[in-house]
Amino acid sequence: MGSKISGLGMYVPERILTNHDLEKILDTSDEWITTRTGIKERHIAEEWVKASDLAVNASKEALDMAGISPKDIDVVLVATSTPDMIFPSTACFLADKLGCRNPMAFDFSAACSGFIYGLTIADSFLKSGKASNVLLVGSEVFSKIIDWSDRTTAVLFGDGAGAVVLTSSNDESDILSTVMKSEGSHWHLLHCQVGEKLRMQGRETFKQAVKSMEQACNKALSKAGLTKEDIKLVIPHQANIRIIDALAEKLEIPKEKVYANIHKYGNTSAASIPIAMYEAYKEGKINRGDYILLTAFGGGLTWGAVVLKF
Ligand code: UT7
Repeated sequence: MGSKISGLGMYVPERILTNHDLEKILDTSDEWITTRTGIKERHIAEEWVKASDLAVNASKEALDMAGISPKDIDVVLVATSTPDMIFPSTACFLADKLGCRNPMAFDFSAACSGFIYGLTIADSFLKSGKASNVLLVGSEVFSKIIDWSDRTTAVLFGDGAGAVVLTSSNDESDILSTVMKSEGSHWHLLHCQVGEKLRMQGRETFKQAVKSMEQACNKALSKAGLTKEDIKLVIPHQANIRIIDALAEKLEIPKEKVYANIHKYGNTSAASIPIAMYEAYKEGKINRGDYILLTAFGGGLTWGAVVLKF
């Protein structure tokens, strides 16, 4: 049996914060942000909105596409660095808001690599026969941990959620290979201490991101027994368009085959890959039967890649 992505959904808060809006509160410019990051705008949640609220909307859409009821979900996984509370888990709140029937539910934190880690966890539950339907959501409200007076980080992030339903299936759709890595000694490059705000050493993080994702992609391809020519679309974590372009160059994959929607959302951390996957699907850039390469990098450090047949 394979692990099939049977449903996709996304949700971003209505409120849009443009680069021009940021020019009014920070010593920055639309020109700097656009040329250095590719970001034009990001969505920001209202103060009272939590990660589980964004996750509910994304999940409902994914469940609809999969054609299954919340009651059929055995496992609810939420990848987030901005949970509703320290405990209970955001996954428990999500399961309750959706009307699931006592599923196993837990959060995990792998920062921006959360969705890649989550696909591996979901795949393990499905392939071991311990679950038949897994709901995996990346949901983040980074606006709550941003230091809005720090121009080096405040311009980069946005809020949002992306959800997938994974189902045991005997058609050809499957997760073919996964690579997941971490390096805790570099924690200081990108971190948020409890009760404090996010801090990042941008330049060093940038270098590590390109190198690590390139290695993970090549390893995931060889584990899947595929070459880059087999891949219909690369969907990388959306942190910076220059990172995405540098990765495409290192992998020697044409830019048209590497998906980017960072201009609309900024970096939504664990939500960025499922949001990008959702939009790539809606735009007809991926279809059933296509081989897709996903890759992420984030605080931890954590990084990884997944090859799947959609
Ligand atoms: O999702 C997890 C992974 N995250 C990442 O991978 C992010 C990785 N890092 C980056 O994307 C980039 O390093 C940044 C976008 C954060 C920064 O770009 P950079 O080209 O590395 O710029 P820099 O940090 O070297 O800064 C260049 C200059 C500095 O001024 P001086 O020292 O040269 O006078 C900064 O103070 O740009 C200045 N600067 C800004 N200027 C206007 C930094 N932020 C801003 C800003 N507006 N928002």
